[in-house]
Amino acid sequence: MTMGSRGLLQGVLAVGLVLYAALGNWRAMGGPSVPATSSAARADEAGALDTASQVERGRYLARAGDCESCHTAPGGKPYAGGRAIATGFGTVVAPNITPDRETGIGGWSADTFYRAMHEGLDDEGHHLYPAFPYPWFTRVTRADVLAIKAYLDTVPAVRQEDQPPHLAWWATRPLLGAWNAINFDAGEYKADPRRSAAWNRGAYLVEGLGHCSACHGAKGPLGGVHEHRPFEGSRTPDGWYAPSLGGSTREGLGRWSVDDIVEYLKTGSNARTAPAGEMREVVEDSTRWLTDADLHAVAVYLKSLPPSNQRDADVPALDGARLQRGEALFTDQCTGCHMRDGGGVPGVFPALAGSSAVQASDPSTLLRVVLDGARIPATQAKPTALAMPAFGWKLDDAEVADVVSYIRSAWGNRAPAVNAAAVADARAHTDREARSR
Ligand code: HEC
Ligand code: HEC
Ligand code: HEC
Repeated sequence: MTMGSRGLLQGVLAVGLVLYAALGNWRAMGGPSVPATSSAARADEAGALDTASQVERGRYLARAGDCESCHTAPGGKPYAGGRAIATGFGTVVAPNITPDRETGIGGWSADTFYRAMHEGLDDEGHHLYPAFPYPWFTRVTRADVLAIKAYLDTVPAVRQEDQPPHLAWWATRPLLGAWNAINFDAGEYKADPRRSAAWNRGAYLVEGLGHCSACHGAKGPLGGVHEHRPFEGSRTPDGWYAPSLGGSTREGLGRWSVDDIVEYLKTGSNARTAPAGEMREVVEDSTRWLTDADLHAVAVYLKSLPPSNQRDADVPALDGARLQRGEALFTDQCTGCHMRDGGGVPGVFPALAGSSAVQASDPSTLLRVVLDGARIPATQAKPTALAMPAFGWKLDDAEVADVVSYIRSAWGNRAPAVNAAAVADARAHTDREARSR
C-alpha cells in the first residue's frame, strides 16, 4: 500500500470511529471506574507498601514490564521520561514517572496508578495512548501493580516536564474511547485450570507485563493487535520485523526447544540466532533479569502456541540467474563466517540454514542485519559480544537483494525472494537511525 492510500484509509477509519463514538456505542469514555476495594484491603496495601520485600518484587516486575527502557530518554535520568515512542501514526513521548510531585507521579494514589495500568487513564481521567502498553498491563494483578508502584516510589525524584505527542491530526485523546471499545478489553489475567502452573505463569507474563504481542502480534489498520492472530509477527514502526512466535518451522519457534527459548531470553543468543534489532533491547533491559523459573514458564507458554496460518506455505523457487549471482556473492562475502553449507559455527556464528530470522515472511530485520551489521548483546552469561560486519557500504541494493534471496532459498530454506526496492526501504530506516545516533 502506498503512504497516500494508507493515510486515506486511516482518515476514513478515523471518521468511522468518530461516528461510532457519536452513537454512544462504547463503554465509559473517561469517567473514573476504579474497582472497588474493601477498606480492610486498602489498609493492608498501605502497610505492605513499606516493606522492603514489596519494593524488591516491584523492581523485578518493573523489569518484566520494561518500564525503565521506555520511560528514560537516551542519556537521561531513569524514569524521568522524554523518550519518543514510535507508533504507526507519529510519536508519543513517554512521561516522567519518578516520584516528583509536580512533574512526575509522586502525588498519585494507589487507585490512580492502578487505574492507569488497568484502564489506560491518567490522573485526571484522560485517555492515555496505547503506545503505553496498558492493553497488556491490564492483565496484571492489583498486588503486582502496587508492588511496582512501591518500587517507583523509591527511585530518585526528577523534575522534568512532560512533552506533547506528535501525532496525526485526527489521533486525539477523546477518540481513544472508541479505539478502546474496538481494541481493548480490560481485565486481570484469569488462570486456565486445565493448564499447568508453569503455563499459566508464562501466559501471565507474556500477555501481561511482557507485552510481547505489542511487537509480535499481527496488527489491524489502527494499530490494535489482531484478535485471532496475536503472535503472527509484524513489522514495528521503527522498521524491524518481529517474527511469529507460533509453532511454524520456517518463521516461528517450531524448531526451538524450551531450553533454546530460555537461553535466548536469558543470554541474548542461542545456537540458532541472536537478536539484532529491537529484541536486543528487550533482552538487555527486561528478559535477562527474569528468574530461570519465569523464563521456563514463558517458554512453556510460547511452545504451546499454534503454528500461524500461511508461514509454511510453498513459495516459487528462485530463478536461475539470481540464484547464481546470489550464490557468488555469498561465497565471496559470507562463507568465511557462516560456512558454505550455511551451518555457521555453533556458539560463534549463527547458522543461516533453517534460521527463522532468515526465512521471515517480512525481510525487514534480515535486511537491516546485512546492511548495518549486528552485535550479539553482551550479558552476564556471555560477556563477549561478537559482531556481524555491515555490508551496506559495500553492496548495492540489487546485490543485497540477490544475496539475501539466495540465503532465503538455499540449504532447504524457503521464503519469498526480496527485491531491490525493499532493500532501499530498509536502507532508509538504517540511515535515519544512524543520523539520530
Ligand atoms: C513501550 C513503551 C512503554 C513501556 C514499556 C511502558 N510505558 Fe508507561 N507510558 C509510555 C508512554 C508513551 C506513555 C504516555 C502515553 C500518553 O501520553 O498518552 C506512558 C504513560 C505511563 C503512565 C501515565 C503517566 C502520566 O503522567 O499520565 C504511567 C503511570 C506509566 N506509563 C507507567 C508505566 C509502568 C509502571 C511501566 C512498566 C510496567 C510502563 N509504564 C511501561 C510508554 C511505555
Ligand atoms: C519492542 C518490540 C518487541 C517486544 C516488546 C518483544 N519483541 Fe521479541 N522480537 C522483536 C524483534 C524486532 C525480533 C527480531 C529479532 C531482532 O530484534 O533482531 C524479535 C525476536 C524474538 C525472538 C526470536 C524469534 C526468531 O525466530 O528468531 C523471540 C523468541 C522473541 N522475540 C520473544 C519475545 C518475547 C517472549 C517477548 C515478550 C517478553 C518479546 N519477544 C517482546 C521485537 C520485540
Ligand atoms: C566476520 C564474520 C561474518 C561475516 C563475514 C558475515 N557474518 Fe553474518 N553474522 C556474523 C555474526 C557474529 C552474527 C551474529 C550477530 C547477531 O546476530 O547479533 C551474524 C548474523 C547474521 C545473520 C542473522 C542470523 C540470525 O539468525 O540471527 C544473518 C542473516 C547474516 N549474518 C547474514 C550474513 C550474510 C548474508 C553475510 C555476507 C553478505 C554475512 N552474514 C557475513 C558474522 C559474520
